[in-house]
Amino acid sequence: MGGSSTGREKKVVLAYSGGLDTSVLVHWLMEEMDYDVVTLTVGLGQPGDLEQVKKKALDTGAVHAEAVDACEVFAKEYIVPSLWSNSLYQGKYPLATALGRPLIAKLQVEAARRHGAVAIAHGCTGKGNDQVRLEVAAAALDPGLEIIAPMRDWKMSREDEIKYARQRNIPVTVSKESPYSIDENMWGRSCECGPLEDPWVEPPPDAYEWTRPPADAPEKPDYFEISFKKGVPVSVNGKKLGLVDLIELLNKSGGEHGVGRIDMVEDRLVGIKSREIYEAPAAVILIEAHMALERLTLTREVLSFKTVMEQKAAQLTYEGLWFSPLNAAITEFNREIQKRVTGEVRVKLYKGSAIVAGTRSVNSLYDLGLATYDSSDIFDHNAAEGFIKLWGLPLQVWSKAEKPIEKDG
Ligand code: ARG
Repeated sequence: MGGSSTGREKKVVLAYSGGLDTSVLVHWLMEEMDYDVVTLTVGLGQPGDLEQVKKKALDTGAVHAEAVDACEVFAKEYIVPSLWSNSLYQGKYPLATALGRPLIAKLQVEAARRHGAVAIAHGCTGKGNDQVRLEVAAAALDPGLEIIAPMRDWKMSREDEIKYARQRNIPVTVSKESPYSIDENMWGRSCECGPLEDPWVEPPPDAYEWTRPPADAPEKPDYFEISFKKGVPVSVNGKKLGLVDLIELLNKSGGEHGVGRIDMVEDRLVGIKSREIYEAPAAVILIEAHMALERLTLTREVLSFKTVMEQKAAQLTYEGLWFSPLNAAITEFNREIQKRVTGEVRVKLYKGSAIVAGTRSVNSLYDLGLATYDSSDIFDHNAAEGFIKLWGLPLQVWSKAEKPIEKDG
């Protein structure tokens, strides 16, 4: 590939968003570290035009700029396994940012191979989870690559960066600075910093972007019938949809109904508690629906065992261990179990809530004859008596074996 005219010997692949930080990094890596910079911008469903970002990277001084729309892969290989695990970190966060990072790292590693780069670089700070996720994932895929993280001990303020950029003709679009740090992809929007740093303060309305305030949501509920095939959502209200479109539709409709707002104090991997706001309408709706269908189609044993795996899976994702043998094994466990998770779930969206209103499945384990209290009941009531005796037998034995407490002296 080209770029040799710069006279530099080494190449680095920089994860590039097109923002001020990573634009300054393009130059910084050239000037301070003598690298030719290849930028990689990964489209995971966040707003912004990939081609424009690519052009900006080239205008900024990159020797090559790649922009990949990775939505399909992200949905199929990252979101689906996470949905199978009903993954919610600390019971609440559907992991959008956390799921995107290993894919970005993988594409960076692949780009490094294509361009003969010896290093990869990112613009994460030293306080967050994202640096850990990107670096652990990259090292798992190619332990030989050098990793450069200049923002980890960055000395430049925003003003310094703007000055630095202007001096080097780096295009800067100075927009009104948002107090928030935001990361978005199709599985959700993460928002932190600014007024959110005080956990007592209610998030200001401008912290939210994807969802309406539930109080302003329509007075009339909307019902969505979601069909799943082997644990994968395949259609909404009878209309077959690819995963990317299906998720987009639920984000939009859910957002209109104020569904998917999450406000939590969470534990970062680096030991800090932080206050985060998430908006994830599709993730919340799909996890709720998927769980309901699992309750209808899976056995009691599988469900209880799966709960343990689900928590582990969420933790592995959050903590940057996506490319670990345990995560791969959990996905294969789920792939087997999901074979029966086929059917329809009716979800009612109303004023900020997504409530399952009905479930049905060709693989349903719900047996009306067994469940009913009316005269068509076929449950063997007499069998209950013997069952209770044997079920409680160990406790009877335990109780009888109790010896009177011996008093000392
Ligand atoms: N706390 C979330 C996580 O660790 C979101 C991080 C958001 N990243 C960002 N650069 N704003 O996954």
